[in-house]
This record gives sequence, structure tokens and C-alpha cells, in this order.
Amino acid sequence: MSNDSSIQSVQSEDRIFPPPTDFAARMGTVHVPDMEAYRVMHERSIRDPEGFWGEVAADFHWYKPWSKVLEWNLPDAKWFVGGTTNACFNSVDRQVENGYGHELAILWEGEPVAGHGPEIRRITYSELRDDVARCASALESLGVKKGDVVTLYMGMVPELAIAVLACARIGAPHSVIFGGFAAQAIVDRVHDAGSAVIVTCDGAWRRGSVVPLKANVDAACEQLPGVRKVLVLKRTNNEVAMHAGRDVWWHDVVPAQPNTRACEPVDSEHPLFLLYTSGSTGKPKGILHTTGGYMVFTAATARWTFNLVPEQKQMYFCTADIGWITGHSYIVYGMLPNRVPTLMYEGAPNFPAEDRFWAIIARHNVTHFYTAPTAIRSFMRWGDMHPAKHDLSSLRVLGTVGEPINPEAWMWYHQMIGGSRCPIVDTMWQTETGGHIITPLPGATPTTPGSCTMPMFGIDAAVVDDAGNEQPANTGGLLVIRKPWPGMLRGVNGDRQRFIETYWSRVPGMYLAGDSARRDARGYFWIMGRIDDVLNVSGHRLGTAEVESSLVGSKLVVEAAVVGMPHEIKGTGITAFCVLHPDHENDASDAMRKRLMEYVSKDIGPIARPDVIRFTTALPKTRSGKIMRRLLRDVAAGKEITQDTTTLDDLGVLAKLRASDGE
Ligand code: PRX
Repeated sequence: MSNDSSIQSVQSEDRIFPPPTDFAARMGTVHVPDMEAYRVMHERSIRDPEGFWGEVAADFHWYKPWSKVLEWNLPDAKWFVGGTTNACFNSVDRQVENGYGHELAILWEGEPVAGHGPEIRRITYSELRDDVARCASALESLGVKKGDVVTLYMGMVPELAIAVLACARIGAPHSVIFGGFAAQAIVDRVHDAGSAVIVTCDGAWRRGSVVPLKANVDAACEQLPGVRKVLVLKRTNNEVAMHAGRDVWWHDVVPAQPNTRACEPVDSEHPLFLLYTSGSTGKPKGILHTTGGYMVFTAATARWTFNLVPEQKQMYFCTADIGWITGHSYIVYGMLPNRVPTLMYEGAPNFPAEDRFWAIIARHNVTHFYTAPTAIRSFMRWGDMHPAKHDLSSLRVLGTVGEPINPEAWMWYHQMIGGSRCPIVDTMWQTETGGHIITPLPGATPTTPGSCTMPMFGIDAAVVDDAGNEQPANTGGLLVIRKPWPGMLRGVNGDRQRFIETYWSRVPGMYLAGDSARRDARGYFWIMGRIDDVLNVSGHRLGTAEVESSLVGSKLVVEAAVVGMPHEIKGTGITAFCVLHPDHENDASDAMRKRLMEYVSKDIGPIARPDVIRFTTALPKTRSGKIMRRLLRDVAAGKEITQDTTTLDDLGVLAKLRASDGE
């Protein structure tokens, strides 16, 4: 990796970084001060989950207390059974009622538009309460009722957080679609969720250009007769078509509402949201999270993992988009109940310059910074001079999420950004787990570059074989969770079978994460990669099947096989092996490659754009017709083919594959 720091490129995996000795002095309070405290708490949380989580949940507001902490009928968990609560109340109204209404809840930095500095908005809890109540009433005026799924397809503007909370306020589950996805992704998700109302923006700023969100919604709605209303926030001022009877402007309906709509008490197991994520087969699945357990788990894990202390004037900055689970859990729901301001930004890390994040950190005295390894690898490539020009001394805790971090990136982050004084929490978790499942705790856990270390409280994580037996130290196996936890998914929308098959079938009685892992002699976890056909591209999950069906959907290709390949920045890049349609057989050119890449980018979104396209006249298949993906992965990675190819149907295919060059 090219960078101009002095960090060695090969790091020993045995390095241990204990929490800095002055961590307690710098943080004021440390919730989990050492490994002994961690062990005692973790052991209790596994031995007595009901006692443990009952105490944690008692710190939240409940309209009616639960009668039982946990009801567990594998694979169905109910947490805080019989209790009623509201996630918006616990995030916002409660702070106002407790006298903190004047405190900062959300700090937002818009993308700088030419000639201006960044637009900054500071929203207090009182203001947020009023804005959310108005938005909630506006949604009701559009016909939204408790239990109706509302789709949010917006840029990173404060109104996205407001709309999320407004849905929670009235008990209407939200389904947020990442603004980087294209029309087809909207069609699939809105259709699957049965959503009749979409909230969007005219456009979103990204590197000085406008992402045409409303136009994408319009295109999607051509295939969505069930969409009755589209609420449109004006952000970029681009020309948009407004469909009479269906589309309404945010500024026409939201500000005019009263701010009196109270939070709706909902059952602890009332659906809070659906969030679509990729699996190994078929279309993305709608992961269901419910109210009480998710709320308690995200807020408690945020507090422990980041050592949040509201009295210490902390400022927390997570660079994720609310369209992903990281934004749901650790920009909105996990943060606001902790009363530590959450910083949202709009745009891109390298616009207007490659020091955007460091400028934000210095400008707002950010204490906590949470980003993805893929971003860190980009920062390294952009050069040390960018962070070096800013004062980053306010930082206390650094976090990473989304993919394994390579030790070189970890060391750079530690030294260049953290000034060698900030613990790094490498947080392992998933859309399905709701919150962190394996992570260091900054005041307690000695860290090692590349390891996500030890399980979160209440998480009985293990590495097992197919029969569920724990693997010996340093032996790879399946990552599982053996007991229910409050933030766990409650199902896959409309597909009970897929829920059971994906998570609860391979290892009897245990939740299967879909990752392989090993534990070292100290008990530290090392994530080794997905065991299914899911790629982790720049920390984002993508199913190979989605990209393949998009390529075939172009009609230029009759068959495609998509595999991951090592990529310096993205972690995993996408290689697509394509068999061209007979009408285009002679078009195996760079122009065709570009055409296909652009097709996928427009169809699914830029994150799914293949990095390399290789044309072939046939895909390697077994005699029973299964595509030999492992072989393709080796070809894509440029490896020697060492595996047994005796089951390959046509050995000639292999020679042709190697001859087919990429881009
Ligand atoms: O493979 C693991 C990887 O990301 C997957 C979950 O993806 P998603 O549901 O999109 O959520 C990403 C943000 C929570 C996991 O199955 N993953 C996530 N965090 C880590 C990780 N792999 C290694 N280390 C991590 N810290």
C-alpha cells in the first residue's frame, strides 16, 4: 500500500496495546475499567441474562413495565414481554422532560457548495422534539397509521434522522433505503415491505453534484402502483416532476403541523424497522427489528463500546450513512438516549478536499470517531499531510466497523489519527445483530491490530464446527451466538423459511452469523470472512446473485458468475465472468466492459459496479451443473490453480478463463 508514513508494512499480529494509562483521567468516568470488571459482567450477563438485561432496561422509560424479561422459543425471542415503550421518547422527549432540552442532540455539516463553507446546523433536543412531532403529524396527515411501513430514501440531511424518529414516534416501522441505491433497489424494497408512503429529497449532494433521488423514486413508482404518497424535501433545488395527488413538498406540509403529537406507547415487540440486506441467494431480505430489545441493546452497547459520558462534553462522529445499520444503531438510536451529540455529515470524505473529516474533527472538537477500514485505507493513500494539518487532539476513542481491518491500516489509524493515545474499538456486528457483538471496550481491553477481541455483554459468541462443538484455539470454524440477545433480528420480512434456513439451520440451536472465525489462545476473536456468497465491498454487503442477475438483466450477457477478489482499498473487489449473448459474441471489448459496468451501476447502485469484467465462452461447472466458484475466485485473484479440477465438466474452460483478460 502506498503511503508516505513511516509505518512498516508488515506488522506482527502479536502486538498488544493496553488501554492508555491516562484513559480514566481523560474520560472522567470509565464504565468498564479493566478486564476483571469485563469478565465479571460478561459472565453474569450469560449466566443470568434476565437479571442483567432487566437492570439495563430499567434505565429506560417504559409506559408499562414488562412482566418477563425474556421469552425464548428458538428461534423466536421476545424481550421485555408485555412492556410498552417508545424508542423516540427514549431518544428525544425524555431528554427534554429531564431538563436537557437546550443541549445539542444533532450537529450536522452539509456538503460545502461552491463558494461557501459548509452549512452547519445545530439541533437541540427541544428543537428535535418539535421537528419530529411535526413530521409525525405530517405522516399521519398523509394517511400513515401505526404498523404501516414508511420508506425513507433520502440523503444525509437532518430530516432523515427526523423522519426516522417520526416513524418511531407513531409506531410506523421505517424502511430506510441507502441513497446510493438506484431505482430497481427501491422497487424491490418498497414492494417487499408493502410500503404506500415514501419520503425522499429532490436530490442529494455528493462531490458537488446532485444525486437525483426524486427522479429515481419516480422511475421506481412506475412499477409500484401501491405507492399513494411521496413526501419530498427540497435540498438541492434541482428540477423535479411533482405528480399531482401523489407528491407533496415537505415545506408545504411539515412546518405547518402542530408540535403536539405525543409518542405512541407501543408493545416492546412492536416492529421498529425493516432494513434490507444482501444474502447469498435472491433479492435482499428485510431484516426485522423490534422496539424494546433493539433500543436497549443499541444504547447500552454504544455506552460501553464508546465509553459515553454526557457530562464530559463529548462529540461523537460516525461517518456511516443512515441507510446502513451502522447509521441506524450508532448515529440515531444508540446515541440519542445517551445524551452525547451525534454528528452527521453530508457528502463525501474527499470533497471539497481530502481532509474533510479532519477539518470536521478539528472544527467541532470531536471526541469519538467511527469509520470503516476501507475509508482508512483511502486516507492512507491520500497522504499524511491531510490529517497532519489539523488539530486532532480532541479525539479520545476511535472505532472501526464493517470488515476486518488489516494491521497496517490499524497502525496508521492508531498513530496518525489517534496520536497513539486513543484506544481503537474494532466492532464486529451485523444488520441482524442490531448492535456490537464482539468488540474491545476502550478502558478495559488490550487490543491487537486485526482482532475484534472479546464478546459484548450478553453475547455468547463461539467458534464451532457444524455439530456445534467449540473449536480448539486457533482453529477456524463457524461464528455462532448460542443464546438470544435483546438486539437480535426477529425475522425476515414475509419469509419465515429464509429466516430459519439462513440463521438457524446449519448449526442446531445456535444463531449462525455467516462468518468464519477463529479464537486465539487468549480467547480473542479473528474474523476470517463470509462463508456464503456475500461479498463485503468497502464494508458494504452485496450478494453475488444480485450482481449476476443485474448483468443478465442487461440482455447483453447470457450467463454471469460474480466472485470477490482482493482489492487494496475496498478490501474485496468484484470480478464478473460473463458469457456474452450470441448477438454480441464479437463485442468482447473494453467498450462492452464499460457498458456492463455502467449498467450494473445504474441498475443497483455504484457500489455494485464490477471492478473487472472477464469475457469467457463458458463458465466452469461441475458435471452436475454447479458453477465452480472457488476456481473462479482463484482465477480472479491471479492464483495458481491448485485445487482438484477432476469434477470440472470441460477442462478446456479453465484454459480459456485464464486467457480471458480483465481490465
Ligand atoms: O462479515 C462481517 C462483516 O460485515 C458483515 C455484516 O455486514 P452488515 O450487515 O452490512 O453490517 C455491517 C456493519 C455492522 C459481517 O457478517 N463485519 C462487520 N464488522 C466487522 C466485520 N468483519 C470483521 N470485523 C469487523 N469489525
